[in-house]
Amino acid sequence: MKLDKSSQQGVRSDLARIVETHFRSEWQRPIGAHSAAAFDAVRDQVQASSAPLIIDSCCGTGQSTRYLAGKFSDALVLGVDKSAHRLARHQDGEAQNYIMLRADVNDFWRLAVDAGWRPVRHYLLYPNPYPKAAQVRKRWYASPAFPTLIKLGGLLTVRTNWALYAEEFALALAVAGRGASRRVLADEPPVSAFETKYQERGHSLFELLSDLDDLRAGAERKGSEG
Ligand SMILES: C[S@@+](CC[C@H](N)C(=O)[O-])C[C@H]1O[C@@H](n2cnc3c(N)ncnc32)[C@H](O)[C@@H]1O
Repeated sequence: MKLDKSSQQGVRSDLARIVETHFRSEWQRPIGAHSAAAFDAVRDQVQASSAPLIIDSCCGTGQSTRYLAGKFSDALVLGVDKSAHRLARHQDGEAQNYIMLRADVNDFWRLAVDAGWRPVRHYLLYPNPYPKAAQVRKRWYASPAFPTLIKLGGLLTVRTNWALYAEEFALALAVAGRGASRRVLADEPPVSAFETKYQERGHSLFELLSDLDDLRAGAERKGSEG
């Protein structure tokens, strides 16, 4: 990622405290009416399906949603993004096993947890980095939505072009008692619009994998590090 002087340079020393605060407090933000209506529109289809659920959060144009539907053809893949503009640029493919939904994931994740949805996999590809140190609480791992993301569970895949984002995300996961493995993407075919853009610019791309359903793995890792 191209960083300027105003970008955060290292892991924030107060990150663990910020994350812990979110786990200790009840998030009061009301659910948006638009997100609730969007959730209701797909609830029956998702709940009637016996296919494993995969969520592609902040899917943008949904290129990755279509890719995941092809890769996991036995699953039902749900791509969620708040931008009508980006979703409108989605191009259909052959796969039929996916749904695109316009909703704010701050609401959607809570509605999904409350409805008892348990995705087997959850993708968060190139979320907005908010690179200034003062913007840290806007990043998913330091936002009040993070405990809900954890509760939703599944095998979480995060990709970013900012090494610090991956590093801080892993630290936040450790605070939540979850382990994570990290790798730098090799030269592999891009799966989303931003991945294509960043590859063309020659950026290094980072992936974080975390089994959110495996609390023990994170706890053990924390123990062995400490
Ligand atoms: C940098 S783009 C990445 C899009 C896509 N994942 C990709 O890799 O091409 C970030 C996306 O996050 C979406 N987004 C940001 N905040 C969101 C929110 N609260 N709820 C849903 N989508 C959100 C934006 O609309 C945008 O499409």
